[in-house]
This record gives sequence, structure tokens and C-alpha cells, in this order.
Amino acid sequence: MPYKKRIGLKLGTVNTLVFRENNDILVHEPSIIAYNIQTNSILGVGEVARDIIGRTPPGVIPIQPLQDGVIADLDMTLNLVTYFLEKVKLSKIYKNEIVICMPAGLNSVERSELMRLISSISRANTYLVHESVATAYGSELEFSMHKGAMVADLGGGKSSCTMVSCGDIVAESSIKVAGKQIDAAIRKYFKYQYRLVIGELTSEILKIKHASVANNFKNYPVTVRGRDLVTGLPKAITFERAELQLAIAATVDKIIDVIKSTFALISPDLVYEVMMDGLILTGGTAQLNGLAQRVEQELCCPVQVANNPISNLVKGVFVASRELDLGGIKHAL
Ligand SMILES: Nc1ncnc2c1ncn2[C@@H]1O[C@H](COP(=O)(O)OP(=O)(O)OP(=O)(O)O)[C@@H](O)[C@H]1O
Ligand SMILES: [Mg+2]
Repeated sequence: MPYKKRIGLKLGTVNTLVFRENNDILVHEPSIIAYNIQTNSILGVGEVARDIIGRTPPGVIPIQPLQDGVIADLDMTLNLVTYFLEKVKLSKIYKNEIVICMPAGLNSVERSELMRLISSISRANTYLVHESVATAYGSELEFSMHKGAMVADLGGGKSSCTMVSCGDIVAESSIKVAGKQIDAAIRKYFKYQYRLVIGELTSEILKIKHASVANNFKNYPVTVRGRDLVTGLPKAITFERAELQLAIAATVDKIIDVIKSTFALISPDLVYEVMMDGLILTGGTAQLNGLAQRVEQELCCPVQVANNPISNLVKGVFVASRELDLGGIKHAL
């Protein structure tokens, strides 16, 4: 029987994706809204919002409807999703089916909320698929319904580690610590060490370009610019790259601890399977320099960083949703 067209939707704290079954990514934009609190109106959503925030008169604030991986502001999430679905002209195509990637750690109320939200703006049939299950199917591992896989999804606001077996979740742990908290740790370091206030974007760029948690890494000087905490004047300082490792160490340890704690929740046979087949690291923060090697060393099991966390997910979502048609969690409401 021919399938209806399926559209994937992944809502993240930092990024939202809308994609099609042929791996076409239709939307990949920040999950952010620029909101004018004086006129109570939305000035922009996604990339538009990111580009105008900070460049407008006071009164325009950034709203991130998802916080730490869960919906924090239902109305704004609705606005965000409506905007993206309208952008790709999906809201009217009710013959399609929408597969929503469900982040780890959502409780049943949050799941229902997510389903209700999508149903309220689109007449398409909606399905829920665990993000971790989709990632396992999209990975290079020979994953199938009958195999187990451990997936650590290190995102922007939340890090989670999930054991997937027989196409479902058998154990999961998560913590509200991920990329954004690493950025915040960098900002805090410069504030207290150098009395330098740096912006969110600057701290993220420092992290992506220069931070490393590897044991052996090349040290070099880096210059950063911001505002002097005391005088309020522009200030530039040069510091050692190694300082970034110091700044983020405690935050990164918390993320690694979440992965460690998941091993305590699974059977010894599944531990054996992960030790043989490896652990999948995905999410934007999985790309932090040296993190995969650190996890490999501390857990004594092979680690596979999803080559492209996004395309892995996109590939896996539809495979997972087909498998789950055979008695999975579709129509979860
Ligand atoms: N090369 C890189 N090195 C380190 N961090 C990176 C890199 N590229 C992206 N990131 C970080 O990845 C994070 C975003 O990841 P992702 O898109 O997986 O988050 P999300 O799914 O929106 O969030 P969540 O899953 O927490 O809801 C950001 O904090 C970003 O700074
Ligand atoms: Mg995510």
C-alpha cells in the first residue's frame, strides 16, 4: 500500500527543523522569536529574529519558547511552529502526515501538549517518534528493531542519554546542561577572571572555534573583545586557549556524568552490547573538540559521533516511523 507523504518536525531549544522524506531539509532555523513588549507583537521568527535582535530599539526581546528541551511557552511555540509550517506551505497540505521528533525526557503531559499543538495548526495526521530512536536508525550502526543502541544527544539546553532496544526506550537520563550552559560558563570565566563582559554569540564562537576538552591539544593565544565590567568601555584581551578548557571543565563533567549514569540503569547484557558496538554521540554539542575521545576514555567503549547529527536524524526519523507503524507509539494521544 503506498504511504502518504511524511514530513518531519524537530523542535529543539536552539534549532528547529522541518524536513521531507527524501531527506530534503525545508527549514533549519533558530527556535527564537523577536517580540516587541511595547506593542505586544512579533517582529520576526527564526533567522529573521536572530538577525534583528540586539539591533532594534529597546523593547524588543528574544523569546525562546523551548527551554532545556521542553516547551516553556506554549503560545510562543505555537507561533514558532505555525510560522515554519506556513513558510513551507504545509499548514494546508492535510493529506500529509507529520512525524514529530520527541526529545528525551518528556512526560506524558508534555507529549500530549506537543501533539495537541501540532493538531491545532495542521489537519495532518501526527505521529511521535523518539529522537533517540530516530538517531539510532539513522546512524551507521547496524541498528534494527532487535538490536540495542545507546544514544547520547547533547543539544543546546539539554543533554540526554538513552538506551534504545527493540525499537523502544529502555532507560534514559537527562540533565538541563548542554551547549548554552557551556557558553554561559565561558562568559562567567571572562567576567570574573578579566572583568570582561562578552556577548552570547561571542562565547558560542569561542567554544566552537577554540574550546577543547582533549587531553593533548595545541595551546595558542586568542584575542576576545567585549565591554569592561567596571568602566563600561570597549576592551580586548588576549588569553591562552587552555583557559577555555578550565572555564568549561565542570560543565562538561556534568554532561559526561549523565552518560555514565545511564549504564547503571541497563542490564549487564546491554552494557556488553554497548561496549562492543559503541555509543552514538549526537546533537550539536557532540561536536565539541575532544569530547568524543574523553567519553571513549572514561567509559572504555567505542564512541561514534554522528557525522552530521542533523542528517542522521532526518534519515532515521522515517525509518523509525515506518517500523513503529507496526505497533509503536503513533497516535500517542
Ligand atoms: N562544532 C561545535 N562545537 C561545539 N558545540 C557546537 C558545535 N556546533 C554546534 N554546537 C552547539 O550545539 C548546540 C545546538 O545543538 P542542537 O541543534 O542539537 O540543539 P537543540 O536540539 O536545538 O537543543 P535541545 O536538544 O537541548 O533542545 C548549540 O549550543 C551550539 O553552540
Ligand atoms: Mg535536540
